Amino acid sequence: MHPLQCVLQVQRSLGWGPLASVSWLSLRMCRAHSSLSSTMCPSPERQEDGARKDFSSRLAAGPTFQHFLKSASAPQEKLSSEVEDPPPYLMMDELLGRQRKVYLETYGCQMNVNDTEIAWSILQKSGYLRTSNLQEADVILLVTCSIREKAEQTIWNRLHQLKALKTRRPRSRVPLRIGILGCMAERLKEEILNREKMVDILAGPDAYRDLPRLLAVAESGQQAANVLLSLDETYADVMPVQTSASATSAFVSIMRGCDNMCSYCIVPFTRGRERSRPIASILEEVKKLSEQGLKEVTLLGQNVNSFRDNSEVQFNSAVPTNLSRGFTTNYKTKQGGLRFAHLLDQVSRVDPEMRIRFTSPHPKDFPDEVLQLIHERDNICKQIHLPAQSGSSRVLEAMRRGPFPFVLYCRYSREAYVELVHHIRESIPGVSLSSDFIAGFCGETEEDHVQTVSLLREVQYNMGFLFAYSMRQKTRAYHRLKDDVPEEVKLRRLEELITIFREEATKANQTSVGCTQLVLVEGLSKRSATDLCGRNDGNLKVIFPDAEMEDVNNPGLRVRAQPGDYVLVKITSASSQTLRGHVLCRTTLRDSSAYC
Ligand code: 5AD
Ligand code: SF4
Repeated sequence: MHPLQCVLQVQRSLGWGPLASVSWLSLRMCRAHSSLSSTMCPSPERQEDGARKDFSSRLAAGPTFQHFLKSASAPQEKLSSEVEDPPPYLMMDELLGRQRKVYLETYGCQMNVNDTEIAWSILQKSGYLRTSNLQEADVILLVTCSIREKAEQTIWNRLHQLKALKTRRPRSRVPLRIGILGCMAERLKEEILNREKMVDILAGPDAYRDLPRLLAVAESGQQAANVLLSLDETYADVMPVQTSASATSAFVSIMRGCDNMCSYCIVPFTRGRERSRPIASILEEVKKLSEQGLKEVTLLGQNVNSFRDNSEVQFNSAVPTNLSRGFTTNYKTKQGGLRFAHLLDQVSRVDPEMRIRFTSPHPKDFPDEVLQLIHERDNICKQIHLPAQSGSSRVLEAMRRGPFPFVLYCRYSREAYVELVHHIRESIPGVSLSSDFIAGFCGETEEDHVQTVSLLREVQYNMGFLFAYSMRQKTRAYHRLKDDVPEEVKLRRLEELITIFREEATKANQTSVGCTQLVLVEGLSKRSATDLCGRNDGNLKVIFPDAEMEDVNNPGLRVRAQPGDYVLVKITSASSQTLRGHVLCRTTLRDSSAYC
């Protein structure tokens, strides 16, 4: 991903009305460093950089050339009947939300849920209120996804509905403002503003700090956008407001962006370069969540196991990076910094009663120290998401996943993947595996598809996420390959993969029948008021009747399970997605030993 991105700021002058022409006040090419507010303890270089940035952002928000011309020619004495235009730059109090109500709607992956919490945290500090009632909203923000065409189509449809809401709004209320946040804002930029004139603001994934300013600009009837990507924005100092968190678990962002450039994927273009959040700030958030009584944390990022905290200079020596055997990187190998194994170790020490998970990793970054730690540490879940994407080496190479021809000991990508699966299973007995697959990638033949089917059979995943290929502009595949698998063939292959995945997952999950598993209780089952629902170590849903049981730490005490409790459940049946059983006792993570 090229670090240069344009910031565009489209401003429509106050009071010109909806038919006014759009004037482009600034279209600048900027070095991709963002963050309008200063980070904690900035170095002198950072301060200087910050001052420069501060100056340029003030410059961008300041009066225009036209304003000075107008002032110069203004009569010395104003006629009392003359109404003065407010200055076209923003005063501090204009950046405040003044109790305006914001309705946030999230689409796409868990990263977007986390982004929503970050955006809300920033707006809350600025004096906005949150509402879950669309009708009472003054500002509607959609946090969007671009990964597949269908995800974007959903947003366009939603915008049409919102347009009607905006048009129907009584004049007595403040005008409704609508914003597009996240990947779609980044990918389509001004196309959204041009296509849907009722969109007031655009904010890319690295521009959420700028939301109060963008909304203030929109307040005066102008469109405003910031789609600047950053090399270092991790929102480390923004404590997300975990409104979506359940009573038991939360997601903690540890890194952003992706440098892998898999040929089908838009993510490196919408979320920018890979960068990790400093460990200290991650630990601070995990500690807070533990103090709030949460029992599970999922470390979140596009490539969590490529984590590399370079913020502490003493760890930046040229320590080479250990990759999984047989894998290479698509970029010049990085060195030094504190790596994922270190983070996992530190996070899992915060609270031994807190389960630790992570998603989404890349198969290339599973060195032995990570696997060993998962095996040894009781509260790190024995569950690994290992996105394969295809079972055919030919397709994997076209996707730019796995070993490539410049590797001396070049082996086939599928072989390297299968070897990694065996190695993981030897290192972490009982590990639960999941994967992502794409059906119908460019040039995929029936033979390639059969290879994917055979990988599904061979690995027997516990969980899977399967998608039909959707060509995305800007990606390598878009420029170099042909989207030549007909839609109906993609869908037929996808159906086949889903069927096979289900058969194999059922078999894999049935090996749990008769075992006693540690389950973290989430609450009532959605399907029955007499059943409870929780998750086992492998993140599979476990359903069991709500019944009285013994508390192992208080012998003789009969209790009923509450959300956040750990209970032992004897598994009695299994399907491809759920386990069922009956509860034995309430316990703790440390005291339990899931025996099988
Ligand atoms: N088409 C279909 N699926 C895709 N994914 C990423 N890009 C595309 C695309 N263009 C899938 C991959 C990835 C998951 C998050 O989404 O399987 O792992
Ligand atoms: Fe996309 Fe590949 Fe990066 Fe995952 S690793 S976000 S699939 S480019």
